[in-house]
Amino acid sequence: MTAPGRDRHVAQPGTAAASQPGSDPVLELVDVHAGYERFLALFGVSFAVGERQSVALVGPNGAGKTTSARVASGLLEPTRGRVVVAGRDLTGQPAHRFAAAGIIHAPEGRSVFSSLTVEENLALPFRRIFGRSGVREAIDRAYEVFPRLGERRRQNAGSLSGGEQRMLSLARVLVDEPKLLIADEPSLGLAPIVIEEVYEVLQRIRDAGTALLIIEQHIDQALKLADHVVVLEHGHVSIAGRPEDLDLHRSLTLSGKTT
Ligand SMILES: Nc1ncnc2c1ncn2[C@@H]1O[C@H](COP(=O)(O)OP(=O)(O)O)[C@@H](O)[C@H]1O
Ligand SMILES: [Mg+2]
Repeated sequence: MTAPGRDRHVAQPGTAAASQPGSDPVLELVDVHAGYERFLALFGVSFAVGERQSVALVGPNGAGKTTSARVASGLLEPTRGRVVVAGRDLTGQPAHRFAAAGIIHAPEGRSVFSSLTVEENLALPFRRIFGRSGVREAIDRAYEVFPRLGERRRQNAGSLSGGEQRMLSLARVLVDEPKLLIADEPSLGLAPIVIEEVYEVLQRIRDAGTALLIIEQHIDQALKLADHVVVLEHGHVSIAGRPEDLDLHRSLTLSGKTT
């Protein structure tokens, strides 16, 4: 169910993703330095996410994961380096250009409007994406995928459980079919059984053709879905590769992080 009419761009040779065979990169960070005013949080971060690939970006609190996510979705402009989306250099472009290129960012925490109903929360992004005439159909599709949201359509989003709120923020992603979903700590604060559900949803989003950049502090969850892992520590990529090739537990334990 890949969205029709979305053009594909061929990767430029010599970029960071050239080392990942078999998939064109949807996103590349190339030697990215970024921070907040005079505080630098990223020091030359490079990694890539190929089409339909699932990359786990892991590392301890404060390592720069969220900062990387902000750079990757155009919310934060790097002070050095490049952000390339589907072969196009979007460095310095506004966030809506990144969205138009197919990048969706599900930020940390509960990104729903708690005083609006479930249906209103869906209608807002769907109206923007599908226009007034397509809203109803998109909402119905979301309820097919998430029947529980359908049952709670008139309830304020603030009264949903943590897991249901996370489902609500992911529901629009399934319908939108972006090229890349950046999910910042999707399991944060959820009970284990709900985490399983959230990861099943991520798996479905991926099966539908969307590449994933999953950010987690605890690697075990993210590894289930990842075919490439990038470990970030103190604003540097300390280790990267296929999970089966990496001694991740050892490397994170050595750096003082328990997993
Ligand atoms: N808005 C901000 N202003 C100033 N410093 C920030 C801001 N957000 C994050 N930082 C700092 O940048 C560094 C990286 O943070 P962040 O990217 O949020 O890490 P992570 O998501 O890996 O926990 C941390 O030292 C953090 O304190
Ligand atoms: Mg974070």
